[in-house]
Amino acid sequence: MAKIKIGLFGFGVVGQGIYEVVRKSKNANAEIVKICVRSLDKPRTIDRSYFTDSADEILDNPEINLIVEVIDDARAAYDIVKRALLKGIPVVSGNKTMLAHHLPELIDIQKRLHVALLYDASSCGSIPVIRNLEEYYDNDLLLEVKGILNGSSNYILSRVFDHSDTYAHALAQAQALGFAESDPSFDIEGYDSLFKLVIITVHALGTYVAPERIFTYGISTIHESDIRYAREKGVKIKLVAQVVKVSEEHFTMFVMPEFVTPDKYIYSVDDEYNGVVIRGECYDRQFMFGKGAGSLPTASSILSDIMARLHDYRYEYKKQNYVQRPDYTTDITLKVYVRYTTTDIHRILHFRKIREQYTSEESNYVIGDIALSELLAKREQLTGEDLFLANIPIFFLNRDH
Ligand SMILES: NC(=O)c1ccc[n+]([C@@H]2O[C@H](COP(=O)([O-])OP(=O)(O)OC[C@H]3O[C@@H](n4cnc5c(N)ncnc54)[C@H](OP(=O)(O)O)[C@@H]3O)[C@@H](O)[C@H]2O)c1
Repeated sequence: MAKIKIGLFGFGVVGQGIYEVVRKSKNANAEIVKICVRSLDKPRTIDRSYFTDSADEILDNPEINLIVEVIDDARAAYDIVKRALLKGIPVVSGNKTMLAHHLPELIDIQKRLHVALLYDASSCGSIPVIRNLEEYYDNDLLLEVKGILNGSSNYILSRVFDHSDTYAHALAQAQALGFAESDPSFDIEGYDSLFKLVIITVHALGTYVAPERIFTYGISTIHESDIRYAREKGVKIKLVAQVVKVSEEHFTMFVMPEFVTPDKYIYSVDDEYNGVVIRGECYDRQFMFGKGAGSLPTASSILSDIMARLHDYRYEYKKQNYVQRPDYTTDITLKVYVRYTTTDIHRILHFRKIREQYTSEESNYVIGDIALSELLAKREQLTGEDLFLANIPIFFLNRDH
């Protein structure tokens, strides 16, 4: 491919990092031509002549042969990315919210028009999860992809477990350090992990599952008694996203706090780091660890996608053509810990089996087997400070050891 002339959308945390890494990279053979932002009035660190607030000025510029989209508005991002692809202009995006909601349509456009959309930065920042799943793990031996996909919530849980910080203080610190959004619900309620998991699953198993069909539970209601319980058992609580084959014909996926034992790779993924475990039939478990967010780590992933375009790389979505693809199911049994104080938990949740119950004046918990479909159906009722849920992992297919 000839020199890459980039039209960049967004000049925030990631956009500025991209400007920096493209400038630094001697081999990129790429140049940022124009940058579209929301407001032209903001002070900028580079020459004002770069900037426009008109998407058309980039999309209609014949000199531009690659769009890089890193804006924080998923709806506008969808319009920009779709318009670019329909015009035959390849796109690199980091926008997990937009991708998780629109991938089927965007994949269809890519296939019909033979145009590329790359997005490794959208899932786990600098960790090259997507391209590895797409290319290296292009076989049917994959059993599970599981990990800590959100740096902010992991930072908060690390502070609480390793530094005996309070949840509120840890959250405030995460915000002060720029790990958490000023509205942190996206991170701590599990949606950021969910959207990444949706994208990962497309490349792990070749199947798209819409976010609203996936059980998602965050860490915002974690309480001192949950932490004490986990410490007593010698485990940590981590916010874990997972997609896992439960039989030859089916896979399941969910995002939930989980009790993690010290023998697991993700036990030692602390602070704002991300870690992804890939488990397969022949190679047991492999582990990828690194910075999942931040200006330069995310920009380095975007640069890798830009460089891939120099060689005309695009995702083939080969797994979508597998003869036998497993179907998504929520008809599986999980073992969960549910802590509550006044909520009548047995009125809300139908357990298949109760394994342990504890009551005290301060709080109660129940550990039991429950269908994932039951948790999904009752999701709206499982809110509020009085409740906290955590998964106690059991191993499907008995192939973990
Ligand atoms: N931050 C990370 O570590 C990270 C990691 C992986 C992926 N991502 C993804 O990367 C994207 C950007 O994140 P960020 O942290 O860089 O966000 P950010 O710092 O809030 O910056 C957002 C940028 O988007 C611009 N923008 C918003 N709406 C726009 C529109 N309609 N047209 C043109 N420009 C628009 C803003 O313009 P103004 O400057 O004028 O406000 C700003 O420059 C998000 O999708 C995020 O999920 C971020």
